[in-house]
Amino acid sequence: MTVLPDIDPYAMRDLETRSCLVQGQELVILRHDDHWYVYLNSCPHLGIPLNFIADDFLDLDRQHFICANHGALFRYEDGLCISGPCSGQRLRQFPCVVDAGRLHVDMLDL
Ligand code: FES
Repeated sequence: MTVLPDIDPYAMRDLETRSCLVQGQELVILRHDDHWYVYLNSCPHLGIPLNFIADDFLDLDRQHFICANHGALFRYEDGLCISGPCSGQRLRQFPCVVDAGRLHVDMLDL
């Protein structure tokens, strides 16, 4: 497990997204209630980052991740694309746990 630097999981607000660089890869972190979700910041459509603006990954309703490039929408619970050019594909998700106030992510198969 890798401890995410500069991320205090309990300091994140509900439905706040953050990005974090780990092992040369940019991750997207979202908190919802007391659940955290971690994904690779790479759209399955073209393999490019989802966002144009730093730490800005949600649609206007804050219900889904959105790819700023072509508007694909992804469920933040499991990364499934429900609308857009990569519908049916998923964001790459990493298991994570909060322990001792830090967010730990399993990136072993990256
Ligand atoms: S690159 Fe994300 S929808 Fe096209």
